[in-house]
Amino acid sequence: MQQIRRWHIYASTDELENYAAGAVRRAAKQAIEAYGGFNLVLAGGNTPRGVYARLAAAPSDWGHWHIYFGDERCRPQGDAARNDRMAREAWLGRVPIPPAQIRSIPAEMGAVEAARRYAQILAPLEQFDLVLLGIGADGHTASLFPGRSLDGAEVLAVLDAPKPPPERVSLSAARLSRARQVMFVVSGEAKRGAIAAWRRGDSIPAAAVAPPAGVDILLDVSAWPECCV
Ligand code: 6PG
Repeated sequence: MQQIRRWHIYASTDELENYAAGAVRRAAKQAIEAYGGFNLVLAGGNTPRGVYARLAAAPSDWGHWHIYFGDERCRPQGDAARNDRMAREAWLGRVPIPPAQIRSIPAEMGAVEAARRYAQILAPLEQFDLVLLGIGADGHTASLFPGRSLDGAEVLAVLDAPKPPPERVSLSAARLSRARQVMFVVSGEAKRGAIAAWRRGDSIPAAAVAPPAGVDILLDVSAWPECCV
């Protein structure tokens, strides 16, 4: 499916993070009212930290939130490099989402076994309500990297990631696309090249995430390339 893209540019990282946190809250309210629960996939890396901190700062109907992860690095539980540790420190450890509703990727088991198990965890869920993603300078998203498989299974074992650590687990582009909403949050000059490639129509991994309703790309002006100003 061709990726439908909507670009949203913010004058500062602060504005970007405020809007992104508000969009997550609105999606949660809508899903909980309509379906009784909110199934959210978290992005890894550093960019979402400020968004997660904003989510921790405001009350919500946390008992109906169900948290998943788009990817995880194969490091021991609690390791500083883990995406779920960042999310817990910035947000999940500060709000009363029932622990059973926070479904970390068991990446400490190694990529192959963790991918198998996470696919089982996801199997009952037809589609996510909202998927949050970041993008790397090379156009990767989650742990889907250029020149490597983006699909082929719901959850992929990645053994040769160019961004350390090499061993990771990632939801596939197809699984990430099975969502009502997909929102990329992008900040910083380092991402200008990836955004320019994306706008040129290059087949970067981020462009392979193509949910029926399209994707919303939220970025601050520092990530917006001159070519598009
Ligand atoms: C990861 C992330 C990855 C991240 C991008 C951007 O595990 O590394 O899932 O896809 O979103 O690399 O990372 P930053 O937000 O740190 O720039």
